[in-house]
Amino acid sequence: PRQYCVFGNPISQSRSPWIHQRFASQLDIEIDYQAKLAPEDGFADAFKAFVAAGGEGANVTAPFKEQAWQLCDRLSVTAKDSGAVNTLFLEGDKICGDNTDGFGLVADLHRQQVQLIDAKILLLGAGGAARGVIPALLNETPKSLTIANRTASKAHNLQNYFSDPRIHACGFDELLAGSFDVIINATSAGLARQRPDVNSSIIGTKTICYDMVYQAEPTGFLVWCHDHGAGQCIDGLGMLVGQAAKSFSIWFSAMPDIEPVIEELRRLLI
Ligand code: ATR
Repeated sequence: PRQYCVFGNPISQSRSPWIHQRFASQLDIEIDYQAKLAPEDGFADAFKAFVAAGGEGANVTAPFKEQAWQLCDRLSVTAKDSGAVNTLFLEGDKICGDNTDGFGLVADLHRQQVQLIDAKILLLGAGGAARGVIPALLNETPKSLTIANRTASKAHNLQNYFSDPRIHACGFDELLAGSFDVIINATSAGLARQRPDVNSSIIGTKTICYDMVYQAEPTGFLVWCHDHGAGQCIDGLGMLVGQAAKSFSIWFSAMPDIEPVIEELRRLLI
């Protein structure tokens, strides 16, 4: 079988091995896809060791998406624009990077009939996960994209990096009440069983709240959004399967069927 994996820290929670095995059986391809824990300061060495042992490509999750970007010899336009890589593959001895998170997020928002054109979007977080989805969100022609982060300076850095007039940046304490159509949590707070400490006045009765982190129980962020009257709360399961499908299509030049895998995973995890 062809060898792929996902690198993260932590990684034991990852559903990616299961998802990629489902895609592989759909398309009659034999793969061996493992979850690999890389040391916080040892991502590049871990990927190179994997390649030396026959690995052909990998997904990358928190906190390595920016390090993966640094490691690449070649970048797709999306990866280049976003400054984060979640999909690695090889062309000869060159390491190539792409980012499929934005595809997965936007495909899932479309699937859930969320209106993005002219929407006022709030993105919480300014790490690798946040930057990876910014080009895809801008591509949907929102009215505005506000990036708010616990550490405000990192949000301002992203604003400068993308330099798009629709982007605003601020700290959590500067957010204005009731002004967003869609709020997307791209912080990694959920992995530590926490939630971003933002004021609940940003949630209106029509606000759609999306958590990019997916776990079996509702995340702290979504429970909190629901308790404060959000119009709709959506977890990241559809995004997870969507970004995986796009990565799979990069590796195998064939797009798997997303919907049955979303449904099966949802049933398994309830
Ligand atoms: P990822 O790839 O998941 O984005 P990252 O690059 O390490 O991982 O970035 C983590 C993001 O989650 C950052 O925006 C971080 O905020 P800071 O820049 O202030 O550190 C955010 N984050 C992590 N834990 C958080 C928490 N408990 N509350 C709010 N934000 C949090």
